[in-house]
Amino acid sequence: MPHGCEALASAACRNRSSLKAIAALGAATSAALVAQVGAANAKSQPPMTHCKRGCSSIFHFSFTNKIKLSCRGAQATAIACEAAAPGGSKETLVTNWGNPEKAAKLQKEYAKKDVVASRRELLALLRVQEGEKVLDVGCGPGFLLHDLASVVGKNGQAVGIDPSEAMCDMATQRVSTLNQADVRQGEADILPFPDDTFDAIIYSQVLLYVKDVSWALQEARRVLRPGGRIVVLDTDWNSLIVNTKNRELFQRIFIACTSTFVHAHLPPLLPGMFSQCGMSIAEMRTVPMIAADANPDGENEAFMGNWAFSVVPQKARDYGIAEADTQMWIKEQTQLCKEGAFFACLHRFLFLAYKPGA
Ligand SMILES: C[S@@+](CC[C@H](N)C(=O)[O-])C[C@H]1O[C@@H](n2cnc3c(N)ncnc32)[C@H](O)[C@@H]1O
Repeated sequence: MPHGCEALASAACRNRSSLKAIAALGAATSAALVAQVGAANAKSQPPMTHCKRGCSSIFHFSFTNKIKLSCRGAQATAIACEAAAPGGSKETLVTNWGNPEKAAKLQKEYAKKDVVASRRELLALLRVQEGEKVLDVGCGPGFLLHDLASVVGKNGQAVGIDPSEAMCDMATQRVSTLNQADVRQGEADILPFPDDTFDAIIYSQVLLYVKDVSWALQEARRVLRPGGRIVVLDTDWNSLIVNTKNRELFQRIFIACTSTFVHAHLPPLLPGMFSQCGMSIAEMRTVPMIAADANPDGENEAFMGNWAFSVVPQKARDYGIAEADTQMWIKEQTQLCKEGAFFACLHRFLFLAYKPGA
């Protein structure tokens, strides 16, 4: 007879519409639970997850079509039900990194100089040492994981986890010659490692996609050794500054652009979240992504040039902004380029925090 988590999860598998009933059922359980339950179309090798407090249940789930139940103590709440229907709820606009095309696009963008420079800043703050054991959560295509593995060397270990199979494949390929590197499929909510495992944990442009950031940080603290450190790199989209005369259109474009993140404005909340989980921030830095020129017709080496001429049109269309308005944006920004007056800037924020202890 299934108990607690198992009962909830199997009920959710059978009937997704019974979420509310499941949440009510969960209120009667005493186990704290995060169960991510697969819909019928789970992949052949789906990620697995398990109850956080002692229940032996293990559930499979699909990356793109999942039901997530969160049960804290006596309170169970259905916190997300992502139907894959395009154009449905706001949640469906959040970037699906499980899509191989999107993953490949990101790999191309993250090889460019601005993003390389931002990784360098992260590494400088992390001060990773030879022999250390580090975890890169949401490792994506594995650029940072490769750098980390190179520094920790053969006596250390660099582990990357990511829920996206496409990202895991790219990362695995990237670190294939480094024995000290390892890539696994997994999510920030449930890190598949024992307590006190790592010297350092990194989230680079990842927490803006994680629903329960406080929970994820608690989970990171658990697998960090006493005295270990976390480095977070994240973007606050309120720091976006562009040269445009059409503020009304820009406002709509801004909303379209921020709709693809779970948290578009996380950095100001991070100090409080670290405090809440008993960690103290030791250092903070900003990394500007800035461009004063761009190529409207082709490849853009600068991150913000690519944003203005590739990302904006795509996100505007996905969000349902009229094509005439999107063209108006492109026309204005193209003209600014011709006049040498293009300007776009966005800030990334870096935090270094320590777990108390030896
Ligand atoms: C913008 S990419 C950043 C990749 C990499 N960290 C980097 O900086 O190159 C975001 C990554 O976060 C991963 N991601 C999304 N939700 C996640 C979650 N809940 N837990 C862990 N990783 C997640 C995505 O699959 C994707 O690879």
